[in-house]
Amino acid sequence: MYKVIKPSNGQDWEQLRSRFPVLQKKTYLNSCSYAALASEVEASLKRYLEHRNDKGADWDYWVGRNEAVRNSMARLLGAESNEVAVTASASAGINSLASALKFDGPRNKVVITDFEFPTNAQIWYAQESRGARVVRIAQENGRIPLEKFEQVIDEETLIVATAQVAFRHGAKQDIPAIAEIARRKGALTMVDSYQALGTMPFDVKKAGVDFVVGGMLKYLLGTAGIAFLYVRRGLIESLTPTVTGWFAAEDIMAMDITAYTPSTTARRFEAGTPPVPNTYMAEAGLAIVHEVGLEAIESRIGQLTTAIKDASIEAGYRLASPLDPARHGAMITLRSNDDNRLVASLAEDNIVVSCRNGNLRISPHFYNNEADIEHLFRALHQRQNLLV
Ligand SMILES: Cc1ncc(COP(=O)(O)O)c(C=O)c1O
Repeated sequence: MYKVIKPSNGQDWEQLRSRFPVLQKKTYLNSCSYAALASEVEASLKRYLEHRNDKGADWDYWVGRNEAVRNSMARLLGAESNEVAVTASASAGINSLASALKFDGPRNKVVITDFEFPTNAQIWYAQESRGARVVRIAQENGRIPLEKFEQVIDEETLIVATAQVAFRHGAKQDIPAIAEIARRKGALTMVDSYQALGTMPFDVKKAGVDFVVGGMLKYLLGTAGIAFLYVRRGLIESLTPTVTGWFAAEDIMAMDITAYTPSTTARRFEAGTPPVPNTYMAEAGLAIVHEVGLEAIESRIGQLTTAIKDASIEAGYRLASPLDPARHGAMITLRSNDDNRLVASLAEDNIVVSCRNGNLRISPHFYNNEADIEHLFRALHQRQNLLV
């Protein structure tokens, strides 16, 4: 049998686990898709509904909830609040950013990679009608060597837009190193951190990145329908989004229909009415992430991903994610010859996982434990015909 690692990190992981009711019914290893729902997050949505029943409308309070999410997100990223836009999705943030970039000068190249989530490829290809040239760096055996970035980023590159952790197989990129190459060559860097934030510390200043997108439904424990875009302070006022709306205005309550006067903060990358119920849930989810702390979370996830890799190796299953812990995120993937069937079959044993492109995605969060992993592997051993 593989090693069972005792919970440590100074946290009472079992007590934390008890705050996620679904874990009593399911072996839930699918946080790369959607986090388990915490009781506090559930209660926050009930509070919103009660609030509506009690008060009808309370816009000052609701806009305040959006500000609370902005502040909490900024604290998580090591950013200032005025560098964070609260958006409806990562796509909304990327679209707003892309709309503010100009592709008609000598720098019109957008560098993406094989690791991107579709939205962070498709939006950039959509800019080709505005003069952008998209260059995609191919992965080599599930890796993108830094030398590739050195080769492809050049004096024509406007922006490098890439994922911190790849959603298909969980490989992690060295974002500070990529940002350093981009900066040295005069290009901007945008990181899609959706599969990373909430699983590891990420200080945007230390990483030297210009933009970060992510959202609240996965490791940040919130809900769908709310996300964020970080924009480095020094860039904000040089970028004027054309994908916009009244909540991006300098003075929202001016109700101006004569001109476009965007906010001088990252709020200029927002658009319409904030997704009020989602702000309640995002605020509650982020509060738990802060309470547990990103370093403790990273260390706990590290114990769990190690147990998953050890069990896979012992059973002879083929890993699609890198073995080196420095090179993968919270998701460990196994090659399958029929991944959809494997996911459906595991669901019959109350095991929730997901898949992409022949990879079974096993994605623990701090609320999982070794018993979850043992249960999963007992079930996998009975389905070896679906593994390679
Ligand atoms: C890496 C990554 N980027 C972006 C998204 C989703 O973006 P959006 O909020 O636009 O749906 C996901 C969701 O699965 C993702 O894994």
